[in-house]
Amino acid sequence: MGDATIPLIDLRHAALKAVVPSVLTPANGLLTDRLGRPLRDLRISVTDRCNFRCSYCMPKEVFDSQYKFLPQSSLLSFEEITRTAAVFAAHGVQKIRLTGGEPLLRKHLEVLVGMLAQLRTPQGQAMDLTLTTNASVLTRKAKALQEAGLQRITISLDALDDAIFRRMNDVDFPVADVLAGIEAAAKAGLAPIKVNMVVKRGVNDHEILPMARFFREHFGTAVVLRFIEYMDVGNTNGWAMDHVVPSHEVRRRIEEHHPLVALEANAEGETAQRWAYADGRGELGFISSVTQAFCGDCNRARLSTEGRLYLCLFANQGYDLRPLLREEQASDEQLAAAIAGIWSQRTDRYSELRGQNAAPALAGARKVEMHYIGG
Ligand code: GTP
Ligand code: 5AD
Ligand code: SF4
Ligand code: SF4
Repeated sequence: MGDATIPLIDLRHAALKAVVPSVLTPANGLLTDRLGRPLRDLRISVTDRCNFRCSYCMPKEVFDSQYKFLPQSSLLSFEEITRTAAVFAAHGVQKIRLTGGEPLLRKHLEVLVGMLAQLRTPQGQAMDLTLTTNASVLTRKAKALQEAGLQRITISLDALDDAIFRRMNDVDFPVADVLAGIEAAAKAGLAPIKVNMVVKRGVNDHEILPMARFFREHFGTAVVLRFIEYMDVGNTNGWAMDHVVPSHEVRRRIEEHHPLVALEANAEGETAQRWAYADGRGELGFISSVTQAFCGDCNRARLSTEGRLYLCLFANQGYDLRPLLREEQASDEQLAAAIAGIWSQRTDRYSELRGQNAAPALAGARKVEMHYIGG
């Protein structure tokens, strides 16, 4: 807040066209990239719009009334998304996260959830199907989403203090409505609920302990609160290392009051380090993408609202799958081969390189905006 924002360099038009290789090797669930990393997690952005203007993601000065969001005709339809996701499932994807912008702003999202809930892994298992939301309209939608097949949900919340929260979302949205959304999600059985808090020094770091205490006392083990290091995603948020509160510091601040014990990872490639209160009254997560990069087993691919495949959150270009889906009417086999060709060449590990200062040029490089490809 109060930081200089940087004018947007619009990278939405920088995309390579995905190409279909001449030899079509069928998907067998075993696809890996050049660093041996499998493809397990697909994050699908369903809209580039959001009703919040968090300064670290969509600063108001840039995303104002003049900003041109994608037209409806550019968006992948639910059928196109589901078909593409099925091909990803054949390649080994086991988890699908719907993101935005704010995904609940996409009309009839529960219909898409219902379609994705039908997908199966090559072993016949349903997807781990989840969604990241700011919860602004969740009280109205939680039940329908759960009934359509959504299994769990992640809610972004950066402060409990109403004045700080209103300032951070920058649209004067009250914290009480987000808390009501979390209640509604719990009531609908969308468990485990995760609450993601991006910590920015001097802005909301004094909310760390109140947040920990609130969720521990009111939700116990039903909510996992996760602290996220503020990242240098995109080009507009005026990021600086001074704004980052390292996870070890966040943990220390909590441990001064509530002893914690480390937990094992749930799955390979997980973003969060898991800790529990020693008294058993809940779990916490620490996502340390700045101070302890986790690119080594990054199994995440991102599909933009208009059908571009991004191999890294910090990528500066995507691979356009939409022409294959539309004009070229590619078969599923052709689509699978195109995706395999892209993933098998992947070498991305931006956070690691930045952490080692091995690629200083990258720090100032143009990157895609997070509201466009989703968290
Ligand atoms: P779970 O399956 O519920 O554990 O979700 P997740 O942690 O994989 O996904 P989520 O979208 O909740 O991620 C939380 C935050 O971690 C994001 O908002 C980002 O700030 C950060 N994050 C997620 N994926 C990546 C990634 O691939 N690279 C980096 N650098 N940060 C990431
Ligand atoms: N740093 C870390 N996380 C971010 N998010 C958005 N921008 C940033 C950033 N600069 C994540 C937050 C938010 C989700 C939608 O995206 O976790 O909850
Ligand atoms: Fe919207 Fe989430 Fe970005 Fe905030 S962080 S502007 S809620 S997409
Ligand atoms: Fe994966 Fe890129 Fe994030 Fe590293 S920086 S964990 S490669 S998305």
